Parts: sequence; C-alpha cells; structure tokens
Amino acid sequence: MVPQQKTNYGIDAPNVIRNLFVIGVILFAIPFFFPYFYVAWMIFPGIIFIVEAVLMLVYSLYGKFAHRDRMLNKISWKGDEQVLDVGTGKGLLMIGAAKRLTTGKSTGIDIWNTEDLTGNNQQNALRNAAIEGVADKIEIKNENVMKMDFANNSFDVILSNLCLHNIYNKEDRSAACKEISRVLKPGGTGIISDFRHGKEYKHNFEALGLQTTAYTPNYFSTFPPLRILVIKKL
Ligand SMILES: C[S@@+](CC[C@H](N)C(=O)[O-])C[C@H]1O[C@@H](n2cnc3c(N)ncnc32)[C@H](O)[C@@H]1O
Repeated sequence: MVPQQKTNYGIDAPNVIRNLFVIGVILFAIPFFFPYFYVAWMIFPGIIFIVEAVLMLVYSLYGKFAHRDRMLNKISWKGDEQVLDVGTGKGLLMIGAAKRLTTGKSTGIDIWNTEDLTGNNQQNALRNAAIEGVADKIEIKNENVMKMDFANNSFDVILSNLCLHNIYNKEDRSAACKEISRVLKPGGTGIISDFRHGKEYKHNFEALGLQTTAYTPNYFSTFPPLRILVIKKL
C-alpha cells in the first residue's frame, strides 16, 4: 500500500521564532549562572520571549487553519469565482479557496522569500494542492504584488495572509494596495489579514474608493494576533 502523503504548510517566520527562543533561554539562564540580584529580573523577559516563540509555533502548526477558515467564511461562495491569493507561500489560502470552488479558479502568486516560511517554494505549493485534490483548480505564478501582470478587474475574490507587512517601505505597501484594488473586479471582495499596518491598509484602500470593514484581532488562534480587513470594490 502507498503511504498517504501529508500536506505541509510550513512554519512562518522561522528565524524570528528561533531568535525569540534563543534570546529567551539566554535571559532565563543568566540569573541561574550569575546569581546576583541585579540580573534576577532577566528571568521575566526570558519567559516572555520563550512564550512568544511557542505561541508563534502553535499558530504555524494549528492556528493558521482556523484562521484560514475564518477568512474564507467571510465570502458567500458561489463556486465560480476567480480567486487570487497574494503571497500564497505553500498555498494555504489558495488551496482552501480552491476547495470551495466548482467551476472557478484559484491563483496563487508569490516571490517565495525563504525567510518568511519554511520550505517556501512553488513545488511545495503544487505538492500541497495535489495532496488536497485541487491541482486542477489552481494556478501558481511568480509575481510581486507591487506590480502584478494581471489585467484590471480580473478577480472576484482576493485573499492575503501575513504577506503585506513583508514589504518594508510605506510607499511600496501603498503600491501593493493599489495593485490589489486594480485587479479586483467591481463588486469583488478582498480579505486582507496581517499583524501590523492595519490602519495604513484601511486608509490606502479607502483612498482608492473601496469600502472597508476592520475586524478585531483574533487573540485565541493567532500569534502575533492577526487582524482581518474586508475590502469591497463598488
Ligand atoms: C509568512 S508567509 C505567509 C504565506 C501564506 N499566505 C500563509 O498564510 O501560509 C508570507 C508570504 O508572502 C510572500 N511575499 C512577501 N513579499 C511579497 C511580495 N512583494 N509579493 C508577493 N509575495 C510576497 C513571501 O514570499 C511568503 O510566501
């Protein structure tokens, strides 16, 4: 019998998790090796760093699936949608959306930064899609969100999780929002999720004439807490 293959959606920001853990352990250990009262305080930030590293890991291993479903549940799916997942990585949102489609298509774009996600490449996204049985409903492209090759008004639904904050410059993030708005069809919906710059994205999309609804961050299944912004192009 052929062993059943397992999907692998990767660990987000692995270097950040490693650094938090290593710094946390060092801070925690110092007072035990140098038992002077003026270093005792280091135990507390040490514990906080270690807990943060563990929570980030728990999000990557478990929480991201609940968060994906929370994002996808904001759409009333018909099944024929053209979907774009911006910064798809190993295909989490692209594949989740493809499972809700009948005649539609789910496209994932990325530039596959290896430091943002473990095993981050196109082949692994395709592999996950094949294991999930949606290979015929997806397409993957090497595209930068700041300058996408799609025609105006191409997509009914645009999804993006934990991607836009990786663009470090405010003007470039603004260009990314402009591109998302350009390729979204009138009447279309975007679900943008991130842990920072929420107000900036909201402002950018509103300045482009889109309607926005910001939801409170989810503190239970995401860390850092992820905030969902729903955008609608009228
Ligand atoms: C933390 S990963 C999240 C992946 C996926 N959205 C998920 O939730 O599992 C962020 C992704 O955004 C991608 N990314 C970063 N900057 C990008 C850009 N300018 N255009 C497209 N993708 C980008 C990275 O390569 C990476 O795959």
